[in-house]
Amino acid sequence: MNRNPTAFLKEEYEELVEKDLDWKLRILESGSTPHSIVDGKESIMLCSNNYLNLSNHPRLIQSAVDAAKKFGAGSGSVRAIAGTMKLHMDVEKRLAQFKRTESSLIYQTGFAANAGLIPQLVGKGDIIISDELNHGSIIDGVRLTKADRAVYKHCDVGELEKVLKEADKKKYRRILIITDGVFSMDGDIAPMDKIVKLATEYGAMTYVDDAHGEGVIGPDGRGIGAHFGIEGKIDVEMGTFSKAYGVVGGLIAGSQDLVNFAYNKSRTWLLSGSHPPAVAGAQLAAIDVLETEPKHVKNLWDNTKYFKKELKAMGFDTGHSETPITPVIVGESSKAKELSDELFKEGVFALPIVFPMVARDKARIRTMMNAGLTKKDLDFALDKFEKLGTSLGIL
Ligand SMILES: Cc1ncc(COP(=O)(O)O)c(C=O)c1O
Repeated sequence: MNRNPTAFLKEEYEELVEKDLDWKLRILESGSTPHSIVDGKESIMLCSNNYLNLSNHPRLIQSAVDAAKKFGAGSGSVRAIAGTMKLHMDVEKRLAQFKRTESSLIYQTGFAANAGLIPQLVGKGDIIISDELNHGSIIDGVRLTKADRAVYKHCDVGELEKVLKEADKKKYRRILIITDGVFSMDGDIAPMDKIVKLATEYGAMTYVDDAHGEGVIGPDGRGIGAHFGIEGKIDVEMGTFSKAYGVVGGLIAGSQDLVNFAYNKSRTWLLSGSHPPAVAGAQLAAIDVLETEPKHVKNLWDNTKYFKKELKAMGFDTGHSETPITPVIVGESSKAKELSDELFKEGVFALPIVFPMVARDKARIRTMMNAGLTKKDLDFALDKFEKLGTSLGIL
């Protein structure tokens, strides 16, 4: 057969370009700082997940350098063989103390945590009940299981209860409720207190992906459990070091039984190399900073409240965000792209989120606040939003 085995690569890429759905990468020529150099231009950073600006904190940098000097550039192996250094164990111990859980474990990334742990928690004869707006890494983790699936309307605990009742009748072996903590497109928070209450009633496990809540919500940024005062009651609290903590790495906080189980069964943990010492060193320092320097979380929230208030006062639709993720909803995809391009020309870096990531008529600029921005920076950015919102007919 006359088959070109790789023709699809070019064809599918060109199709994306034609529809303007390809990723056009902007290149940072500085660190991810509040004023970053992006494609050669100084820009106010409003789309990084580095919420607390910890990636530039001297204690994190020093700790990374010290760990690399003492322990080398790489760990040499997967955790289960020869890649568990004392540093990795120290991070897990410190994290469990910070999260006030019995135990914790670290994955290479948050994605690896979801892809590695979800498929071990449930299988044939079980059911996963998932919020309709869950993150793609949860969806991929769910796809790796043989469990049945059900989806409930976004944050709708009434509908969740209906699905739980059905699942209960069908006598599934295990039921797993899974949700984002802070939803990354809208910045709203899952009603975790109510979800945990229902789970207890129906004998279901709870798993929350708090990637955007860790370091951000709850006292000292301890995440969604602390936010609702239900620390230790969520069976699996998953998060990441790649956002507010300013480093990289997935994290799981929960019981010792959970961690013993995952140490032995979770495939992305067992079959992939552990973090280089510099990463573990920076992770340790990030936890220290969160515990001892509350000003970062405070600045983040002060900035967030001010920025949201001013955008709303201008007349922008900022949805129902409760967190430092503030969407500026403008309607059509083309409008969101145009606004983002024009903002960039004016020195503000904020990316558009368009269909299929959000509904066709809900395209937006998704702004993500940074604790290192000053009021002057925010006023500068707000001024550009107002000027362009008016000239582009959004306001
Ligand atoms: C909700 C959510 N979960 C998981 C992840 C993946 O985290 P990581 O960057 O550590 O792989 C992300 C990152 O985009 C996320 O937004």
